Amino acid sequence: MAIPQHIAIIMDGNGRWAKQRGQIRVQGHKAGMESLREIVRACSDLGVGCLTVYAFSTENWKRPADEVSGIFKLLVAYVARELKELQANNVRIRLLGDVSALPEDARRAAQEAQTSTADNTGLQFNIAINYGGRAEILRAVKAIAEKAAAGELDPASLTEEDFARELYTAGLPDPDLIIRTGGEMRLSNFLTWQSAYSELYVTDTYWPDFTPAKLNEAIESYGARERRFGGIK
Ligand code: IPE
Ligand code: IPE
Ligand code: MG
Repeated sequence: MAIPQHIAIIMDGNGRWAKQRGQIRVQGHKAGMESLREIVRACSDLGVGCLTVYAFSTENWKRPADEVSGIFKLLVAYVARELKELQANNVRIRLLGDVSALPEDARRAAQEAQTSTADNTGLQFNIAINYGGRAEILRAVKAIAEKAAAGELDPASLTEEDFARELYTAGLPDPDLIIRTGGEMRLSNFLTWQSAYSELYVTDTYWPDFTPAKLNEAIESYGARERRFGGIK
């Protein structure tokens, strides 16, 4: 089985999963944390180089305050519970997004997860939190414009590689496979720059029901794709 070097996941469907069971939406997010734990472990075991998960978008602030704070509380709990095992498994965490806007305890937990795993050499695990593809691109443009204004950079010679170095994902490969659970056929502002040639896999399975066996199905589907990158085979 060809293992993608970089798998990215839009973990969607938590709310519908909860509704289906007559539970509140936060219960769905809680169940989703269990899936995340299993999938991170599975990716480590499979030898996936890089896993990126979409945990909270720049648009998710539109949700009711209690849901938003519930999601961040779960993040704090996830770090408290999982950091030891992630360390033991040599997982390296990177945050993608503007974490400065997070509630204080969530920001601290997320940053602790990132700094305390910075020297690890196993699975590169990226958590996109308060992340938006457009916000990320705009941030890069601002950084580049500032360098140009300071005379440190010639706009005419700027390359795609130079641009990519200003993104949260600097130094990481683009995702080979983007999985979306919950059935929606859209990217919802996820990895807008990086997804240019990613293979997409959408499953109706809600995130809390997504298992390592379902991950294998996605990877098998990926293995059967012909990636041409605009050329001909
Ligand atoms: C995805 O699940 C998790 C986040 C966006 C934080 P949803 O909460 O969007 O679940 P649905 O799409 O409403 O079922
Ligand atoms: C995408 O899911 C964001 C995350 C999974 C974190 P949404 O539920 O926010 O996306 P839309 O609103 O259906 O496009
Ligand atoms: Mg959703």
